[in-house]
Amino acid sequence: MPPRSATITVMIQAAYKAARGLVRDFGEVENLQVSKKGPADFVTAADIQAEKVLRRELNRARPGYAMLLEEGGAVAGETPEYRWIVDPLDGTLNFMHGLPHFCISIGLEHDGEIIAGVIYDPLRDELFHAEKGAGAYLNDRRMRVSSRSILMESVIATGMPWTGRDHHATYLAQVALVMEQTAGIRRMGSAALDLAYVAAGRYEGFWELALKPWDIAAGLVILREAGGYITAFDGRDINLDQGDVLAGNDHIHGELKSLLAQAKAR
Ligand code: IPD
Ligand code: CA
Ligand code: CA
Repeated sequence: MPPRSATITVMIQAAYKAARGLVRDFGEVENLQVSKKGPADFVTAADIQAEKVLRRELNRARPGYAMLLEEGGAVAGETPEYRWIVDPLDGTLNFMHGLPHFCISIGLEHDGEIIAGVIYDPLRDELFHAEKGAGAYLNDRRMRVSSRSILMESVIATGMPWTGRDHHATYLAQVALVMEQTAGIRRMGSAALDLAYVAAGRYEGFWELALKPWDIAAGLVILREAGGYITAFDGRDINLDQGDVLAGNDHIHGELKSLLAQAKAR
């Protein structure tokens, strides 16, 4: 097992603790699917409970750090140069529909830079983690992005807008180009896991419009430490608050960048 720093250990332990509740609640969702009320309220409660556990555990270990929580919003701290960025349940719609693909995502920012990330998929017991400068790991095995360089052989992950969201036309133009030129597109429903899978070499690339900081933070450092690239669509530095994300191995990142530019020009 590679040496783990005290900080990454705190993050992993917090994720494991919060995951227990999520796994138990996911088991309940199946029963609720058939009830008239449906599982929506129950899922919201599971989500909030997971965030509560994460907040308590992270705060106990590092009391002064600020936080950005998907459900709870921004929390000030006495050491604001450090900030946890947390999505307690990424893949909520999957969770609600009994689809077994979701995760917990925890990023740690220092002076505006993400320095550590943990993404945990409790159903597969897959733990992705990385610290800046120390490599990326899947269940303690070093991981690398895929070396595929041919677009036609590449599998690309994405997230697509849904009812009530903007950018449908932009997205359709992008997807039309990407599907013409790649081996296949996947929309699995968890942006954090999409990034982790690019890092693990399962996908060659990923793009999505208008993500939130908690969808991206942990995946960003994990992917970079695995040798991947993550930028805005035009290749510029990523802006967590703007949220357009283009990720990939070194070859496919560039190929996707030109496809997205072509889509914009159409
Ligand atoms: C969502 C998932 C999804 C992505 C959405 C996100 P949530 O997060 O990551 O894959 O397409 O943009 O909002 O709501 O399940 O935490
Ligand atoms: Ca999310
Ligand atoms: Ca969420």
